[in-house]
Amino acid sequence: MVVQAVKWIGDIDGYLELVDQRRLPGEFVSLQCRDTRFLFDAIKTLAVRGAPAIGVAAAYGLALALQESKAGDSPEKALAELTKAREYLASSRPTAVNLFWALDRMRRKAEGFVEGEAGATVTALREAVLAEAKAIHSEDVEMCRQIGLHGEKFIKEGAGILTHCNAGALATGGQGTALSPMFEAHKKGRKFSVYADETRPLLQGARLTAWELKQAGIQVAVICDNMAGWLMKQGKINAVITGADRIAANGDAANKIGTYSVSILAREHGVPFYIAAPSSTFDLSIASGAEIPIEQRAAEEVTSFAGTRTVPAGVSVWNPAFDVTEARNIAAIITERGVIENPDTEIISQCLAPSSRGS
Ligand code: MRU
Repeated sequence: MVVQAVKWIGDIDGYLELVDQRRLPGEFVSLQCRDTRFLFDAIKTLAVRGAPAIGVAAAYGLALALQESKAGDSPEKALAELTKAREYLASSRPTAVNLFWALDRMRRKAEGFVEGEAGATVTALREAVLAEAKAIHSEDVEMCRQIGLHGEKFIKEGAGILTHCNAGALATGGQGTALSPMFEAHKKGRKFSVYADETRPLLQGARLTAWELKQAGIQVAVICDNMAGWLMKQGKINAVITGADRIAANGDAANKIGTYSVSILAREHGVPFYIAAPSSTFDLSIASGAEIPIEQRAAEEVTSFAGTRTVPAGVSVWNPAFDVTEARNIAAIITERGVIENPDTEIISQCLAPSSRGS
């Protein structure tokens, strides 16, 4: 059983339970999230993080927003509240497109409900909105599983696999994206080793990926980010698999800062570099990765380590949270619909067309 990062507890008056990822691996603590302000802070401070998990949590956030509405309010008034909450949550983090994808799907559902149901009550609207959030969540569970089933073939017996950041169960509603093929290969009894980049500055690889893989009984070693090239040079890495926060129409993929460098190293050493991501991570409205907004985070994340200042006061810092790996460095994108090899605009649009399936 993998960890469930995001959980709705109860009925329409219920709440959102989040594993507080800031405190792992030291402590396993759950947060009870009962309003959008709390959720906004949880997303911003990375209590809940990873593109699909942020999307699922934000969808439930709109169900929380409607708890403010009174039973006697008009559905139109409740819809206005939901739209306000949508804008607010959308301003929490800019890069992961799953956030906007989920919020927009929720808004469309609520608008359609209010327009389509003459005499609808606020309670009925709240039920419809919570049902949609649950649908987004359960679809994510299934997308993660399918990614695992499509991707496990890339993990050969005895292989060394490098991953960057955390794209496991903690980062999704289900069993993860990049880690899902590892969980599936492990279920089949295959033996392999995972190397997890520690992922400076917030250590998602060291803290979260290592924790998840250890829990699952998968062999894992943590390396500092600057060790990946030398590890490849020793012939220890047979494949790289990472997640993504947003994939442009041409296959350029944004992921945690450092992923770009890993892709260049993989290319230099002839190691295939795979991205694992659900269709909700594709943004076909942008032609290339140049259009992906990159989040800049606080300097303090870089100037201190474990609470101790490591950079002289007054020295400036550059702290982008993500970078973009060009499609030409990506051997394939593993999606729930199948594997998109040598991704480009044409093949991506074919594979993501409503009726098609990849290889
Ligand atoms: O800043 P984070 O921790 O939210 O960044 C997360 C990542 O970069 C993940 O690799 C990505 O969201 C894919 S998660 C399945």
